[in-house]
Amino acid sequence: MKIVVVGGTGMVGRNVVTKLQERGHEVIAAAPQTGFNTLTGEGVDATLEGAEVVLDVTNAPNMEEGPATDFFRTSGRTLLAAEKKAGVRHHVTLSIVGVDRPHDLGYYRAKVAQEQVVRDGDVPFTIVRSTQFFEFMKAVVDGNADGDTVRLPTTMVQPIAVTDLAAELASIAVEAPVGDVVEVAGPEAMPLDEFARRLTAVTGDGRTVTTDPSVRPFFGVELDGRLLVPGPGARLAATDLPAWLAA
Ligand SMILES: NC(=O)c1ccc[n+]([C@@H]2O[C@H](COP(=O)([O-])OP(=O)(O)OC[C@H]3O[C@@H](n4cnc5c(N)ncnc54)[C@H](OP(=O)(O)O)[C@@H]3O)[C@@H](O)[C@H]2O)c1
Repeated sequence: MKIVVVGGTGMVGRNVVTKLQERGHEVIAAAPQTGFNTLTGEGVDATLEGAEVVLDVTNAPNMEEGPATDFFRTSGRTLLAAEKKAGVRHHVTLSIVGVDRPHDLGYYRAKVAQEQVVRDGDVPFTIVRSTQFFEFMKAVVDGNADGDTVRLPTTMVQPIAVTDLAAELASIAVEAPVGDVVEVAGPEAMPLDEFARRLTAVTGDGRTVTTDPSVRPFFGVELDGRLLVPGPGARLAATDLPAWLAA
């Protein structure tokens, strides 16, 4: 089956391309550096010819609300119009768990705009909302360190390994379109401060983690306690923190 991974050179995209190739599909890694641009339309129609499935795992170069919203709207509309012409039967978009809940995250509002373009389009779709990647959560821990102390709130998180997410996306791509949201998450929910304690314990980096409810761990906004964890029915991946670190 011909499958186009838009954003196929990115962190998620590279892994999805590998998982799909391992399953024997004809996979195109589409991105500006391969001559495929969803903002200008370069290479889009020609690349989608004969494709049955398109996965959109792009990211906006600027993650502020305005530019990110413009990017996701333009990119999504270009892609979906071309997919309709090409007769694509399944469009899969990667989004984030919690974007539809109350929050003050501009980037998450941009992701809602991206989802809306997909819902408004004419191509059968599945929106996959994932939790944060281990890589991202590790960067959050490091970003909230001051010398030997890391301050973090008790916001619940349920990180996932990018390779596990890629495997889920590769499976979902060849399943029937859901026409709605599928949530994907790591195996275990835990408070963010506890995640940091486990991370620093396993890596033995000697930093002390202090619980501090006033800390805004990322994007400078307060995060509601359960904003970042999925509801019941999420597809749960296997790799936990020790396994991810070992890999
Ligand atoms: N970080 C997390 O914890 C998390 C959690 C859940 C969901 N997500 C979502 O995961 C998605 C992918 O994230 P990522 O970290 O893999 O992103 P990334 O590494 O920054 O990769 C972004 C990809 O988008 C491509 N791209 C950018 N502009 C494009 C354009 N105009 N046309 C076509 N392709 C374009 C890039 O191509 P070039 O390399 O050529 O620029 C690259 O392949 C994001 O939408 C994000 O919201 C992230």
